Amino acid sequence: MIVAANWKMNPSFDAAGRLVAGLDACSFQPVKRILFLPHPYLVPLSVRLGQSEIRLGGQDCHQDAAGAHTGDVSAAMLRDCGASIVLLGHSERRANHGETSELVAAKARQALAHGLDVMICLGETLGEREAGKAEQVVIDQLRISVPDDTPHDRLMIAYEPVWAIGTGEVASLDDIVAMHNAIASELPKSQEGVAAAKVPVVYGGSVNAENAAAIFALDNVYGGLVGGASLDAEAFGSICDSARTQMSKS
Ligand code: PGA
Repeated sequence: MIVAANWKMNPSFDAAGRLVAGLDACSFQPVKRILFLPHPYLVPLSVRLGQSEIRLGGQDCHQDAAGAHTGDVSAAMLRDCGASIVLLGHSERRANHGETSELVAAKARQALAHGLDVMICLGETLGEREAGKAEQVVIDQLRISVPDDTPHDRLMIAYEPVWAIGTGEVASLDDIVAMHNAIASELPKSQEGVAAAKVPVVYGGSVNAENAAAIFALDNVYGGLVGGASLDAEAFGSICDSARTQMSKS
């Protein structure tokens, strides 16, 4: 089970220091915790965390190794600044920065080549779900966004219905299971010879302390990608605790 925090463009640097101190004060082993931080926070917070079990990640990287790309960061920069993983293809990147699945795959290749693991986000919009196209959209994103030769032990997938992100509206448990099963059955095809169970697929979209236990109990759900609730140490701790409880049952 993995519980990943997506801080997005939050919080203030002072608040980030307090948050990370609170998170590091507790252990939720064997649950794996990842914090996807705003890039300027990587160095100071990785220094502060030292040998902590908490992994740090970037929220995006460029598809090129280096060059004239004002405002962008490279995979190597993230790695050298304390990240061991990068979040790619988040719906806010796809919507606000026009990122296509082809671009996400190019970024993933770059990240993998520079020693970063990748968490690739997939998800349909409300219009696509209402048109009955949710599964087709997500599976197409999966096929294109994940490079064919991605080592299975360096890949994580986050299924995040766009309409559930930051809205307080969670996908129904039936819909989550159906999509996670569809992704799991597609993974061997997009990744030659790789067993689906080896690639963790986490759910994201309004995960909080109240709903995490029910979501984590579902088949083929290997944890969560948490936005808003990850900015509250107590709520995030409670979500991690739900993941740990689920692991002790299975
Ligand atoms: P949310 O965000 O938990 O605030 O819905 C999830 C995400 O965007 O990764």
